Amino acid sequence: MANSASGDSMLDRLVRVLESFDTGRPTQTIADLARRADLPLSTAYRFVGELVERGLLERDESGEVRIGMHLWELTTRGSRALELRRLALPSMGRVQARLREHTQLAVLEGDSALFIERLSGASSGANITRVAGRLPLHASSSGLVLLAYAPAEVRERILAGPLLPVADETITDPDQLRRTLAHVRERGHVRALGSIEHHSLGIAVPVDDGSGRVIAALSAVLPREYPNPDAALAVLVRGAKEITAAIAGREGVAN
Ligand code: PHB
Repeated sequence: MANSASGDSMLDRLVRVLESFDTGRPTQTIADLARRADLPLSTAYRFVGELVERGLLERDESGEVRIGMHLWELTTRGSRALELRRLALPSMGRVQARLREHTQLAVLEGDSALFIERLSGASSGANITRVAGRLPLHASSSGLVLLAYAPAEVRERILAGPLLPVADETITDPDQLRRTLAHVRERGHVRALGSIEHHSLGIAVPVDDGSGRVIAALSAVLPREYPNPDAALAVLVRGAKEITAAIAGREGVAN
């Protein structure tokens, strides 16, 4: 692929352009995009023009750009995340209906928990999770479950730090994190109190693919004072079993 004067390939630059968008910043000016993607402004204008022409980016009335519908279409086609979401949605809907609190599904992607679905009700409280957004593995309940069952090299890389605090009760000590992960594997769940936000309790359980391999975490974000976390855990455990059954093609047999 053709290289620029700075030596990076066209593909490198294209990836930087796409990665300059995130869930908290869905639209941006071309000047901001150029800065975040580390491109000269003139190159950014040319790139954006070509990407808009192909439907991969869209420009709004104010001139800001966002990810285009055609890019959504291409990335959604046959995506593993979409298939998992399709299989999990009925059970997630039942969990959300029982708890009436945020219910979400995350997978391990790189060194973070990537959220592929979130269901919330009108009465659900605060929650910083976004679909297609990420949370740190050591801080979120989903992340702790994914990390507990992650390949050893991922676990060791995260344990090597830095373990940055997100809230007062985030685990930042590697020994404590190692013990917590061992407990998660022993008990098959985690309760993360005030780890992401002081006023929240995250409860997460692993979802396996039917062969014992953990491929996702199902979690609920509850208010800190939630009256019956044990009952919420039982609902999540049942939901995870149902998702496993759906993945393994055994819908309806989980109990
Ligand atoms: C959690 O998974 O622990 C979690 C996630 C989002 C929040 C709070 C807690 O806003």
